[in-house]
Amino acid sequence: MTLTAVKAGAFTHHLHHTSPDPERLAKFYADTMEMTAEKHGAGWLVRGPGRRMIFTKGAVNGLGHIGMGVRDKESVLDLKVRAETEGLSPKLFGTELFSAGAFSVTDPDGNLIVFGHAPEEKPVKGVRGPLQHVTFATQDIARFQAFYVDKLGFAVSDTVIRQPDGKVMTVFMRSNHEHHTIGVFFQNRTGVDHHSYEAGEWGVMKDWCDRFGDRHIKLDWGPGRHGPGNNLFAFITDPDGNWIEISAELEIIYDRPAKVWPHEERTLNLWGMSKLRA
Ligand SMILES: [Fe+2]
Repeated sequence: MTLTAVKAGAFTHHLHHTSPDPERLAKFYADTMEMTAEKHGAGWLVRGPGRRMIFTKGAVNGLGHIGMGVRDKESVLDLKVRAETEGLSPKLFGTELFSAGAFSVTDPDGNLIVFGHAPEEKPVKGVRGPLQHVTFATQDIARFQAFYVDKLGFAVSDTVIRQPDGKVMTVFMRSNHEHHTIGVFFQNRTGVDHHSYEAGEWGVMKDWCDRFGDRHIKLDWGPGRHGPGNNLFAFITDPDGNWIEISAELEIIYDRPAKVWPHEERTLNLWGMSKLRA
């Protein structure tokens, strides 16, 4: 199976959420996540170094799309040809965040994924924490994995299996050297589970947590360390209830085979309490 998405070096470039009050979310992210908010069509574009969020009016916790950037324009074409060959009916997608030629595909749960090549940006200052991964809830994890791995060429990094029935509960998939760019949890719903910013180091994560503390925003999980990905984590929630992760030390993968983990508390947090999704 050709790892087309991995060859393209696809990374999480931006995330578009819908909200009943997009202005409130834009202001929250601008202040809390050290970003700059500007009007963007009928919604808001909020940017910081390596992190970009779009908020438009719509359902609470709704996904507009994920924007996956790739290494160059040829990679956009390679992925588009792959998507066409696999019968995914890619559609051209116009956005000022990507150069012409960006396209969208819709996964089996109705999540819209856009692949494109981002034009060069002016450097933006701020605390380190590029947008790094997005995870989903799904009721059909095999179908979800088949779409990203078998049809787009993501690679499986780790799988979490429930015993005694062997049911797959979580799959972490990568599209570059980072342990996961997309993850999926078996749950009794569909939609986004959380999105994550990679602070890189513990000390930077501490700066983020101090920033949250200054704003009286409580961590609602962590700090802890995940088993799969071995990353440090701390979670907060935005005013709409979207779950935000600050991560550090996420595993970088070159060539190891996929690992299997047991579905238990310790897999989600080597340090302490967990939030098993199902
Ligand atoms: Fe995460």
